[in-house]
Amino acid sequence: RDRKDLGEEGYHLEVSSTEISLSAANPIGLFYGSVTLLQLLDEGERLGRSGSVPTVNISDSPRFSWRGMHLDVGRHFFPVDFVKRYIDLIAMHKMNRFHWHLTEDHGWRIEIKKYPKLTEIGAWRKESLVGHYNDKPHRFDGIRYGGFYTQDEIREVVEYAATRFITVVPEIEMPGHSKAALAAYPELACTDGPFEVEKVWGIHEDVYCAGKETTFEFLQNVLTEVMALFPSTYIHIGGDECPKTRWKAHDLDQIRMKEENLKDEHELQSYFVKRIERFLSSHNRRLVGWDEILEGGLPPAATVMSWRGYEGGIKAANSGHDVIMTPTSYCYFDYYQSKDKDSEPLAIGGFLPLSKVYLFEPIPPEIDPEKSHHILGGQGNVWTEYIKTESQLEYMAIPRMSAMAEVLWSSKSDRSYKGFIARLGMSHFGRFDRMDVNYRQLDANDRLLNQMNDL
Ligand code: ACM
Repeated sequence: RDRKDLGEEGYHLEVSSTEISLSAANPIGLFYGSVTLLQLLDEGERLGRSGSVPTVNISDSPRFSWRGMHLDVGRHFFPVDFVKRYIDLIAMHKMNRFHWHLTEDHGWRIEIKKYPKLTEIGAWRKESLVGHYNDKPHRFDGIRYGGFYTQDEIREVVEYAATRFITVVPEIEMPGHSKAALAAYPELACTDGPFEVEKVWGIHEDVYCAGKETTFEFLQNVLTEVMALFPSTYIHIGGDECPKTRWKAHDLDQIRMKEENLKDEHELQSYFVKRIERFLSSHNRRLVGWDEILEGGLPPAATVMSWRGYEGGIKAANSGHDVIMTPTSYCYFDYYQSKDKDSEPLAIGGFLPLSKVYLFEPIPPEIDPEKSHHILGGQGNVWTEYIKTESQLEYMAIPRMSAMAEVLWSSKSDRSYKGFIARLGMSHFGRFDRMDVNYRQLDANDRLLNQMNDL
């Protein structure tokens, strides 16, 4: 059999009564074949035939090349040991991208040698919000909170992921969600400050000044250290939720707009992102950003991560840009898993049951068929405003991660929700049990595909 049929990541696994044969075009295929073989050993175990493997003849390869999981360590910090465990979970699902959201208003989490105050000051907030953002007046816990990864720890995680064929994609947010950096280096803002590492969730108006050259010098120096740590071709620069209030009121930003002939602050944001894109491209890296980077004009080589629905991704793909689909409605694992919110841990809002994740279709019909190759894949996003502990994180991520993995790997016609639910209960949950994962148990509704009105 021609191994090329199996693509970059596929494998062929044949188990007969006398031998086990595994072949692939690349090491990553052998790795995935081994994961499958281990799962078959579980099956032997389950059937009471420990150490035996059923006879099979499997040719298997993924539908999408970007099969990702995201983790926000800015709102709540998760230590290296847990990040490795998260990577193990990603690997057991044959996913291959770990999107590490490393900087936020609420904490800067990566050591940058040239700018030590980013972690001395920016990694720590005075206190955290108690309860939900919508509970007013806001109350705080009075407990200093934070943490960061040293560069040695980052290298350790990148290496750990690489041995599991997972690329770690770092995200360094700009121009918004940057208050922790501004607390450390207020001279990068439009006003004088001082700024505090933010303690209230949501969107904040103090952002990097787009008029000062020193902003770009700073970000390029940060990205230079980031590129040295992360071999990933893709570098995520955020780009979402950047209020334009400060730019509108600041002479340096207005001067920049005049000089560069920019008609509004959206074009100023586009100027900002394009400069960073040129910098990354000159180092043979590719910029990824949230879909707001479409506003005011997309840099030519940018990849779009579509989160506010499918629209940004559709527009970007149809105009020839690569896209990762991660619309909130199917991919935000910080949403509630049940309509009965009182029975669930406090979450940000929304409703994303397991069944809906399973119905996620990364290539919506509005994508021109000849542009569908621009959809690289999708990912599950885990934002952590309301996720404080490792066990709660597992509860929110799993088994929705399992549904996402199947969507991104299997062909559309091979998908069966009934089969998925059966396999979870029969074998997959047992794997989580052995790893002591705090996964969410299925409820009666999870057994129905049709619990959403709009499915
Ligand atoms: C995002 O959820 N703000 C990308």
